[in-house]
Amino acid sequence: MLTKKHALITGGAQGIGLGIAEAFLDEGASVVLADRNEEVLEETVATLRSKFPDSQIYGVEGDVSDADAVEKMVAEAVEATPGLNVLVNNAGFGALSRFWEMDPEIWRAVVDTTLTGTFLVAREVTRSMLAREARGSIINIASVNAVIPTTGCAAYCSAKGGIEMFTKTAALELAPHHINVNAIGPGTTRTPLTELTYETPGFKEGVLEHSPMGRLGEVEDIAKVAVFLASEYASWVTGQLILADGGQGLIGLPPYYETLMGE
Ligand SMILES: NC(=O)c1ccc[n+]([C@@H]2O[C@H](COP(=O)([O-])OP(=O)(O)OC[C@H]3O[C@@H](n4cnc5c(N)ncnc54)[C@H](O)[C@@H]3O)[C@@H](O)[C@H]2O)c1
Repeated sequence: MLTKKHALITGGAQGIGLGIAEAFLDEGASVVLADRNEEVLEETVATLRSKFPDSQIYGVEGDVSDADAVEKMVAEAVEATPGLNVLVNNAGFGALSRFWEMDPEIWRAVVDTTLTGTFLVAREVTRSMLAREARGSIINIASVNAVIPTTGCAAYCSAKGGIEMFTKTAALELAPHHINVNAIGPGTTRTPLTELTYETPGFKEGVLEHSPMGRLGEVEDIAKVAVFLASEYASWVTGQLILADGGQGLIGLPPYYETLMGE
């Protein structure tokens, strides 16, 4: 399904990004993983190369919130896979705090990686694709929090909501160039990011109570949507946010802050 696809996946060293990389490799794509955690990135690339010995798999180190680093990261990715035609903007994280108690530095760190990083990497990859007249796809990993607020997550929700509008605007600008831009909004998904919070008493139960399908998401649930959006099956789909959340967005999310802070 993705044999002519060459993908750059940010935050690809673990979690959802890694799940997407594996699914893309299964479908015949070549992948470049970009991550700021060099150690985990190296281990992941080595593991994937032994699992997919016939595939092209590369790793590039860099921080998506740093414009100069992004320029270098994308140049290296294009050097490794000159036909680069898919970008998955996946790097992102949140911080738990009531907004009136939040340190502006923490707000900036969340927004710089999650929203500004999405813009910076999309900008560099788009420039490269336009210069090569390449058609392809940009897939931004948002969250169910792009459309549903949760207590204690103002910076994250704002950044993810921003990704939805960035996706729509970029889709409009890139439609004449046949570059599709879409977003995926995962619900609560089991990854290293969420693993620790699951151990907090009441957290997992709260999520499950607010999960119409009665389970947490797995990275494969998100990766399947990314495969679709990167494929020719989605050639007429652009500017969309697809929630992959087992129905969480239909009924709202549990009070994360209260549970995690024991309030
Ligand atoms: N796990 C969930 O429940 C969930 C739900 C909704 C949305 N998401 C979103 O999915 C994406 C991946 O989440 P995850 O749970 O796999 O997270 P994770 O923390 O397990 O993995 C994120 C990866 O991104 C990398 N990264 C972080 N900041 C970076 C930066 N500035 N530059 C380069 N790399 C950076 C990290 O090193 C890590 O390898 C995030 O955007 C997250 O907001 C996750």
